[in-house]
Amino acid sequence: MTAYNSANIRALDHEFVEHTYKRNDVCLVSGKGSLLFDETGKRYIDLGTGIGVNAFGAADDVWAAAVKAQIDALPHASNLYYTAPQALLAEELCRRTGMKKVFFGNSGAEANECALKVARKYGAGHKGPDCFTIVTLKNSFHGRTIATLAATGQDAFHQDFGPFPAGFAYAAANDLEDMERMFKEHAVCAVLMEMVQGEGGVNCLKKEYVQGVAKLCGQNDALLMVDEVQTGNGRTGTLYAYEQFGILPDVVTTAKGLGGGLPIGACLMGEKAAGVLGFGQHGSTFGGNPIAAAGALSILSRIDDALLAGVKERGDYIAKELTGAKGVKSVSGLGLMAGVECERPAGEVLAECMEAGVLVLTAKTKVRLLPALNIPMDLLGEAICILKGVLAK
Ligand SMILES: Cc1ncc(COP(=O)(O)O)c(C=O)c1O
Repeated sequence: MTAYNSANIRALDHEFVEHTYKRNDVCLVSGKGSLLFDETGKRYIDLGTGIGVNAFGAADDVWAAAVKAQIDALPHASNLYYTAPQALLAEELCRRTGMKKVFFGNSGAEANECALKVARKYGAGHKGPDCFTIVTLKNSFHGRTIATLAATGQDAFHQDFGPFPAGFAYAAANDLEDMERMFKEHAVCAVLMEMVQGEGGVNCLKKEYVQGVAKLCGQNDALLMVDEVQTGNGRTGTLYAYEQFGILPDVVTTAKGLGGGLPIGACLMGEKAAGVLGFGQHGSTFGGNPIAAAGALSILSRIDDALLAGVKERGDYIAKELTGAKGVKSVSGLGLMAGVECERPAGEVLAECMEAGVLVLTAKTKVRLLPALNIPMDLLGEAICILKGVLAK
């Protein structure tokens, strides 16, 4: 193995890591909260949190203590045995949402895979073997496995990987007539949608539309499934974003921020969906691993009313600062999930912010911000000031 030195990491990565990521030219080596540091010691204010994962920032003390204690006690056991962190986490997720059962995987895509299987079996069991269509929305993103790619309503992601599993149909977001058409033209077993399309450009669904879709699902005995992989776990100002839309889904999928820095995905099943999958019908070697579950439990236990009020306050601050600012066309999003349509190309803004010590994300043509839920206001203020300077150029 080549000894680590900061100069050779890029070369090793180029030579040995498959080129599926267009990396930013920074090698991050450490972090604490909303500050990250590269190999030269340069400081960055983090408005990306590893794409919405580090809910309380990098190396958060409470999360790290929970994780370390579990590493010493029992890092892995497999799902052949009972383990406390997984059972306690499932209980907490159900208690906080009203859902009845949880299946754990390791990622958002796996949480959605589980949901897709639940939907198919539910449709077949309730309405017969021809009831298998899962409706998703155009411009959605649900993951990178073949089935979750099929669920993703964006042609660009489908190129080169077909044929895909049949039984997916794509409706135009915020267009209830188009959703009604789906139910007329297909035997629909479920609808899967994000309340705010993250990768699709931080686009919020309208409340009336979401409620209309919920009604259609109820009338047609189709499962209402909400993908909260990015919007979940406090990100939008409520524990899960659907709470702000006045609906109770049958299935909720989540990942990212739930792990707080370790991989975990969860498929939460309500009254109708719980118990659909039987013994041996789904599984995962690592899913709900004790370390990841112990960390997730510590994250979830800290997403309380005070924290959520802070998320809203920070989200309002970002929206207020950026709306109407020079170089900003519009600001979209909910809570601490913000999309900024700018006059300059988003990629250029990202690169110049990075140079100036602020890490942001992009989503389609927008700059996307997913800061830590507890980012200190002074750091947020400093970062937004730098971002505004870059946007105004
Ligand atoms: C809404 C949504 N669903 C699913 C996924 C896939 O999650 P993962 O990359 O953990 O598989 C993502 C990832 O960005 C997402 O934003």
